[in-house]
Amino acid sequence: MTSPSGTHPLPSYLDPNHLGPWGVYLQQVDRVTPYLGNLARWVETLKRPKRALIVDVPIELDNGTIAHFEGYRVQHNVSRGPGKGGVRFHQDVTLSEVMALSAWMSIKNAAVNVPYGGAKGGIRVDPKTLSRGELERLTRRYTSEIGIIIGPSKDIPAPDVNTNAQVMAWMMDTYSMNVGTTATGVVTGKPVDLGGSLGRVEATGRGVFTVGVEAARLTGMPIEGARVAVQGFGNVGGTAGRLFSEAGAKVVAVQDHTGTIHNDKGLDVPALLAHVQQTGGVAGFAGAEPMADDAFWGVACDILIPAALESQITKDNAGRIQARMVIEGANGPTTPEADDILHDKGVLVLPDVIANAGGVTVSYFEWVQDFSSFFWTEDEINARLVRIMKEAFAGVWNVAQENKVSLRTATFIVACKRILHAREMRGLYP
Ligand SMILES: NC(=O)c1ccc[n+]([C@@H]2O[C@H](COP(=O)([O-])OP(=O)(O)OC[C@H]3O[C@@H](n4cnc5c(N)ncnc54)[C@H](O)[C@@H]3O)[C@@H](O)[C@H]2O)c1
Repeated sequence: MTSPSGTHPLPSYLDPNHLGPWGVYLQQVDRVTPYLGNLARWVETLKRPKRALIVDVPIELDNGTIAHFEGYRVQHNVSRGPGKGGVRFHQDVTLSEVMALSAWMSIKNAAVNVPYGGAKGGIRVDPKTLSRGELERLTRRYTSEIGIIIGPSKDIPAPDVNTNAQVMAWMMDTYSMNVGTTATGVVTGKPVDLGGSLGRVEATGRGVFTVGVEAARLTGMPIEGARVAVQGFGNVGGTAGRLFSEAGAKVVAVQDHTGTIHNDKGLDVPALLAHVQQTGGVAGFAGAEPMADDAFWGVACDILIPAALESQITKDNAGRIQARMVIEGANGPTTPEADDILHDKGVLVLPDVIANAGGVTVSYFEWVQDFSSFFWTEDEINARLVRIMKEAFAGVWNVAQENKVSLRTATFIVACKRILHAREMRGLYP
């Protein structure tokens, strides 16, 4: 199908009947197009990734057989700077998913105004089935295969689902071996001893907390005594829960993969974090009552923080949510139908594309520190992070008020305008 302008709405390599996450992203772009003014003539730029690389990743398994895995690296947009986005190791990863995640990175990076485009990578593999040696060989071969398009000034990967600082260290080493010089700036989320940044581990949770406090101030909700429920008590949810409790809020319910716990008077968060560290999950924590997993969504609270997985708030549970504010720590925790239900109920949703951007903001600091080989203190990093998050959130808030749209649509308006303005100023080559 060809549109009147001669452009094709979908690239031929996508199946229009099974668009997957890329289809959700396209709907979001369509929703903001009326707000883009003259820049709307460039909007097709956002509807196609600039570059999508599919690679075969063969490795020798410990038992002597050869296994092949499918890997991807997609650079959605590089108008504002090099590509930036994580690498996901998961058995269900698809090209459509990596394309959508790369596009959401373009939006997130533009929303907090860090000088990056958007990119994402992935391998279709369940890393839990691999030995450490197999995982290292997989990571190194994948890095070598995508090495033709990544680099400190081209595209900078980072950790995502099932990848961590060790995987980033192997990626950095492999890229460095191939180019013949240590290139710490090729990935972020590295161990601190290898050019990683202080504050990176806590950055996403700190960003979640920062935008939550700003939204509470703007809506007249006191943080002191506010009731908070958190799904996922790992890196993001654990940090956000701790910061809210330190600010005087009461964390009344927490859910993770081991179960759901509840304490109406407020959980002892440091003790819970220690329990999770020791046992691997919140189940069995002495200072709380267990509750049914499904009941979590109906807990009486002011602030709900989904910080675990995608598609958790759905049309089936959104109606029961009592919170006045939802802060999306996870990527894509709210389905589009649930988003509409929450909107109709008057629940304020702080969307992932701004609320969890603290991680990539400190990744940006890591990259800057690597380039200058000059490392900042944790206090400097946290202060800069908070300033960027507050400024970005204030901009999005104002756009939402002016246009009477949700914060999600407002974030897309701000980000898409920045990306397309950069595209327009640069012009088309040749
Ligand atoms: N870490 C970052 O910097 C960062 C940045 C942006 C977005 N995110 C997103 O935040 C989310 C959490 O990331 P993280 O780094 O905290 O991961 P993590 O692995 O540290 O923690 C994940 C948490 O989710 C819980 N969980 C897993 N399955 C669950 C289930 N079925 N029900 C309830 N809880 C479950 C786990 O028990 C754990 O507490 C992900 O969506 C991730 O993409 C993370």
